[in-house]
Amino acid sequence: MNDRLSGIKQEILDGIDQLHNSKAAYEFRKQFMDNKTGKIGQLMKEMKNIAPEERANFGKGVNELKEWALQYFDELDAKMKAKEMEMRYESEKIDVTMPAAEEQTGNLHPITQTRNQIIDIFAGMGFEVFENKEIENDYYNFTALNTPKDHPARDMQDTFYLSPEYLLATQTSAAQIHAMETKELPIKILCPGKVFRSDDDATHSPMFHQMEGLVVDKKITLCDLKGMLDVFVKKIYGESTTTRLRPSYFPFTEPSVEVDVSCFECGGKGCKLCKGTGWIEILGGGIVNKKVLENCGIDSDKYSGLAFGIGIERTAMLKYGINNIKLLFESDLRVLEQVKDN
Ligand code: DAH
Repeated sequence: MNDRLSGIKQEILDGIDQLHNSKAAYEFRKQFMDNKTGKIGQLMKEMKNIAPEERANFGKGVNELKEWALQYFDELDAKMKAKEMEMRYESEKIDVTMPAAEEQTGNLHPITQTRNQIIDIFAGMGFEVFENKEIENDYYNFTALNTPKDHPARDMQDTFYLSPEYLLATQTSAAQIHAMETKELPIKILCPGKVFRSDDDATHSPMFHQMEGLVVDKKITLCDLKGMLDVFVKKIYGESTTTRLRPSYFPFTEPSVEVDVSCFECGGKGCKLCKGTGWIEILGGGIVNKKVLENCGIDSDKYSGLAFGIGIERTAMLKYGINNIKLLFESDLRVLEQVKDN
């Protein structure tokens, strides 16, 4: 009988060579320890067939084997699980000193960033955004803006005509007329939009963006225009900049002004950017021509207005030091990635 017990013990000890993981060890353990089917469990059942005088001895031997096997399998299980855990740690090891994978984030196009900044600045002064149209008719783009047919000022802008009547908007100024026709007074609007002209060189593109500003109220003067534009240039080009108004001509404003910003590169001393003058031309504006107010049915004795038109590409080019307008339309990521204001 003792041979049988030591045979089982040897079988358990020999089994170790085939046990490659804790799951195999568990299955192997079952072959011996399972109460019903296990080899040691079976021995217990045989107790009744043993001669009574040997029974006590046999029972003791089986119990000892059972206890030994229990301890043996528990230790084996613990050892294997520890080894498996170690292997898992090894295979999932992370080197926390490795540089993190570079994350690429997109950013808004420089023109969009500039447009948003301009809107933010004027929204802060109470302006609301008014939608612009890309296709206009002759009346809104020219005639109502005091530029009737054969007016020499039509030559200032090379127009793309779609038909004798319809054209691609050459200026966001057309939105002034739509706003004055549809909105209650007083009006304070900002109108971003695409405009089109047959013009193409380093600083001009056949399609570009403008931002029209219009204020119509009682007692609006050029001082209001200068005050607002001073706020605008300080926020866009720097706190130390200021504006200068020069006389100019636009059919829809009287008086008309060309607005310069003091050179933010040299502080006004004169440099390459400002061509030695200390000033950089940035936009056109003026007091809304009475004829334009009247074209829209507004009493020009009671109300006056100011208007201005900002070139968005020009603003972006000056602000970010871009010297060719084409760079804004080529979608070259090396250029676009450099303009990240927000
Ligand atoms: N529409 C003009 C242009 O495209 C810009 C402009 C000048 C707009 C004077 C205005 C203004 O509102 O008052 O050249």
